[in-house]
Amino acid sequence: MTVSGTPAITETAISQAADAAIAAFSAATTVAELRLARAAHAGEQSPLAQFNASLKSVAPEDRATAGKLVGQGRARVAEALSAREAELAVAEENARLAAEAVDVTAVPSRWRTGSRHPLSLLMEHMGDVFVAMGWEVAEGPELENEWFNFDSLNMDEDHPARSEQDTFFIDPVDAHLVLRTQTSPVQIRSLLTRELPLYVVSPGKVFRKDELDATHTPVFHQIEGIAIDRGLTMANLRGTLEHLARAMFGEEAQIRLRPNYFPFTEPSAEMDVWQPNAKGGARWVEWGGCGMVNRNVLRAAGIDPDEYQGFAFGMGIERTLQFRNDMNDMRDMVEGDIRFSQQFGMVV
Ligand code: DAH
Repeated sequence: MTVSGTPAITETAISQAADAAIAAFSAATTVAELRLARAAHAGEQSPLAQFNASLKSVAPEDRATAGKLVGQGRARVAEALSAREAELAVAEENARLAAEAVDVTAVPSRWRTGSRHPLSLLMEHMGDVFVAMGWEVAEGPELENEWFNFDSLNMDEDHPARSEQDTFFIDPVDAHLVLRTQTSPVQIRSLLTRELPLYVVSPGKVFRKDELDATHTPVFHQIEGIAIDRGLTMANLRGTLEHLARAMFGEEAQIRLRPNYFPFTEPSAEMDVWQPNAKGGARWVEWGGCGMVNRNVLRAAGIDPDEYQGFAFGMGIERTLQFRNDMNDMRDMVEGDIRFSQQFGMVV
């Protein structure tokens, strides 16, 4: 069975060629390497293809046997090739999945959610206590007319609070603008713009020339209240403030009023609140000022003080937060450190 150029088709020759092909396929570790091995061992120039081509030169009586040998060899090779193709396809798919794998347990990089400042939350909360009683919330400007901040409130030219030492005056001085030193000007603004009866609270920022330290800050917050109606008395004032104190400090809270002087109320009082759980032991602490709206203030707003009476009050938000949370250093409240704010909850 010898044909010129091609070795004789023997069982050994065919199985060597097939074994070589199968060995080359398993040695290929990538689809690309396998393609090369396939060209070499199963392509047109491969030994088995040449054996196949040489069949036509085999003597007719031997052709069937030789053809069967070559066919079996080629079938073994084709089978090994497709098996290896499948193996490599699976291996490559696995490698691709591994490369694309997402670690669902990895710690994500996220923006930290902010937190509202406890003073903002507290101002809103105090406003809500009044809204629940049917009051309205009003806002006044922080850059205020000197007249609203002082004169209209019965604080004349000589009042010590008007000194350059306490108040931020805005240039030019003859524009008579100040950063408001109290929320009380909103009383007058409300009297001039609203119908009676009137129940208004006004929380907001106020400014005084203080150095920042544990107990002072040049920018702080107050909430002002004014109620004008027929027949209001100091009992209404007291009941309102007591309700606020309980909403702020719990059902046990008590208040006490001590006679005082404010130019825009008569009589006037300083209001203390009882802190049963203070760190150093139970005590009264000063919380705000209040009184019956001065008849002169009513008259100045065109209201007949014999027909309408009213009360007013104002207290510091920072102090309220201090008492509620037993905090001692005012600086914590102004630094804007989110770790401080987050202690009061993540309300957004
Ligand atoms: N405005 C005063 C202050 O800043 C507080 C105050 C006292 C407000 C008496 C009032 C009031 O409405 O009636 O110290």
